Amino acid sequence: MVDRSASATYVVRLLGSWRGAGPSYRALAERIRALVLDGRLPPGTRMPSERELARALPASRTTVAAAYALLREWGFLASRRGAASRVVIPPGAGTGGPYPGGGAIVPVSDPDGGVLDMCAAALPAPPGLAEAVDAATRALPAYLGGHGYTPLGAPGLRELLAQRYSARGLPTTPDQILVTGGALQAFGLILRTFVSPGDRVLVEHPTYPNVLEAVRQVPARAVPVPFGPDGWDIAMLEATFRQAAPRLAYLVPEFHNPTGSLMPEATRERVAAVAARTRTLTVADETLVDLSLDVDQTPPPLAAYDRSDRILLIGSASKCFWGGLGVGWLRAPASLVPTLLRVRAVTDLGTSLLSQLTVAELLAREAAILAERRALVRARRASLAAALAQHLPQWRFTMPAGGLSLWCELEAPVSSTLVALARQHGVRLVEGPRFGLDGAFERFIRLPYTLAEADLTRAVERLAMSYTALASTTAGAPDTTVTTGRATSDPTPVVT
Ligand SMILES: Cc1ncc(COP(=O)(O)O)c(C=O)c1O
Repeated sequence: MVDRSASATYVVRLLGSWRGAGPSYRALAERIRALVLDGRLPPGTRMPSERELARALPASRTTVAAAYALLREWGFLASRRGAASRVVIPPGAGTGGPYPGGGAIVPVSDPDGGVLDMCAAALPAPPGLAEAVDAATRALPAYLGGHGYTPLGAPGLRELLAQRYSARGLPTTPDQILVTGGALQAFGLILRTFVSPGDRVLVEHPTYPNVLEAVRQVPARAVPVPFGPDGWDIAMLEATFRQAAPRLAYLVPEFHNPTGSLMPEATRERVAAVAARTRTLTVADETLVDLSLDVDQTPPPLAAYDRSDRILLIGSASKCFWGGLGVGWLRAPASLVPTLLRVRAVTDLGTSLLSQLTVAELLAREAAILAERRALVRARRASLAAALAQHLPQWRFTMPAGGLSLWCELEAPVSSTLVALARQHGVRLVEGPRFGLDGAFERFIRLPYTLAEADLTRAVERLAMSYTALASTTAGAPDTTVTTGRATSDPTPVVT
């Protein structure tokens, strides 16, 4: 089943300058293969016909036919008689995966001594957390006479969260808020409530791996929408909402994990409009919204543009405050909250009250806490960028305006091999392909800037050693494997 079509003009725009020294058909095939492996033409995309692409390029029909034939031979195009060719990624095209235990990032709570853990993009607790816990403990006796379950959340916290949304331009009442054990738990609840096995879930490509894994476990089918170098490709998003008829869409509009992109207002308007037109329930994950580093004010939440009560927001205290609190929430149209509650009640009857009271205390002091946090994160981001400029200047990234990580583009599809080698050098990282489907993003790696500055520098030094070691092995040598389409001297290995 086809997820969406890529028009000939769209493919031509993605191709850029694709012609190389060798035969045109081979250069074209290699460039298309690179776009597939970079997640720009995700699996399931229906390609334009040979005739359409030939006319749009322009190139001869024979060139395009030969390029498509080569892509079919490599396993990157599937064609049925009379139907359009569809993008696929052949098994084994990525050097890593499938991952034991699935693709989710599972933070280790006790990294081995000396190992620098860059898997989790999460910060240590802010100063003032212990005082907030003390204040929460002092508030607790008022609740001790009751049963202590808060299936919708502690009333005071729901009130504060509603006020926060209202202040961001989205009028909200406490009956629209349901407090959970984290943003992921909120997403799991939404999946269990609204998505059935076999349904489609629209996701950005790349996206947060744990959400991809949650979708797989339903089991539902993730329908990826490519991310361009400048962020959301609204035309492709709209086409996918229309053509793939997803049951749910999952987006990360604020400091998207892993790219760090911030969705512009105009895109928000169009996403909300297409969600309304296609009647698609849409989840905006705002986990990172408070970690804006270079913008004074983020645009209003995606749900502020909602015209049909179809947009849910999920949020978290894990990144702005601390993961150890285990508190997140969702904001939904009030009519959906009773349904969500019914589904929630079979797995848990509420989030830890002491944690919720602590988060309420932290919210009361959030201006000071967030100011301190942003300064810390800015300094760490600068340290990581400086270390990369010194030790790995060939890695490219766009400096994100917020969030907690850099999405680095390598010169070759070696992310999984590099992660394995880096492990031997004492750095834990997550492979690029975990952020995509079927082995895409082997040319990318996510580098969180959440460790202390000195550790970030040490980590980059170790990574540089690993990268050099990788270059000296024949398998996956960065300077011999071609994927960018700029150089086309070695056509054979897609990845090693
Ligand atoms: C986009 C996104 N959503 C959710 C989470 C997890 O949030 P929580 O700890 O609240 O479940 C993360 C953690 O990295 C994230 O990046």
